[in-house]
Amino acid sequence: MLTKTGNLLAENILDGKLVAEELHQTVSKTLQHIGTISPQKPKLVVILVGDDPASQVYVNRKAQTAVKTGMLSEVLTYPVNTTQSQLLAVIEKLNADSLVHGILVQLPLPSHIQTEAIVSAISPEKDVDGLHPFNLGRLLAGEKTALCKPCTPAGIITLLQHYNIPLAGQHAVVLGRSNIVGKPVGVLLLQENATVTYCHSKTRNMAQITRQADILVSATGIPLMITTEFIKPGAVIVDVGINRVNGKLVGDVDFNAVKDSASWITPVPGGVGPMTIATLMLNTLTLFTQQTGIKAD
Ligand code: GUN
Repeated sequence: MLTKTGNLLAENILDGKLVAEELHQTVSKTLQHIGTISPQKPKLVVILVGDDPASQVYVNRKAQTAVKTGMLSEVLTYPVNTTQSQLLAVIEKLNADSLVHGILVQLPLPSHIQTEAIVSAISPEKDVDGLHPFNLGRLLAGEKTALCKPCTPAGIITLLQHYNIPLAGQHAVVLGRSNIVGKPVGVLLLQENATVTYCHSKTRNMAQITRQADILVSATGIPLMITTEFIKPGAVIVDVGINRVNGKLVGDVDFNAVKDSASWITPVPGGVGPMTIATLMLNTLTLFTQQTGIKAD
């Protein structure tokens, strides 16, 4: 199968780039329609502290995609020695700015800044990442209305559903328990009636558990950790890892080793990453509608 860009793709690839592009077009069309009824546009502000090159790339990609889909976007960059109270003051200002609808603080933050304090300072109404404890609580409670779900977990579910991959009754094994990916993706899979097992750094006999997975979601950040030994033939493999090894991007999964035994697999890059950004666009639009009452119908 050839992609639009002429790359050769195996039949079992979960093509996040393609699905994300479709979602961007949907958001774009909605915004064009909104443009006919109001001059106001959704605005996403992305905050980056420090000079991590990977984070710089992600942040710019988020802002550029927002502009490409027809939103306003701003990247605020601060030096690595920015204090927690300086960052809190920036967030407070953005919370009070009625022209800003979504606020995202790129993670990870430098170690002298408490992530929880920052995430909790963002107004829950502008929490485009869905990482504020209030919104994580709403997610856990199963609330659906106008809730921004964390972007990577929600993007993964959208991708699986796009390819009509059954989730109900399937055994999903999640590797990782971060607030940003592992925990919420398990909750979302549970809401789709999957049977969910979490594994993490203290899990014993991990391969024995992952070999029982119908769906394996890996968010360990350990490059190429997942080899055939971890996989049941026919499993669906979702690789959240983005690791740079010898100048090349690789996931948590040894893609070439496992791709033939998986029924479906996400590539790195071009799998989960673009879905994270597409979900961010949808979330920004959701927050805009919620805050302004302006919607296309
Ligand atoms: N760092 C890596 N992924 C993400 C994300 O989805 N949101 C934020 N805020 N930081 C990230």
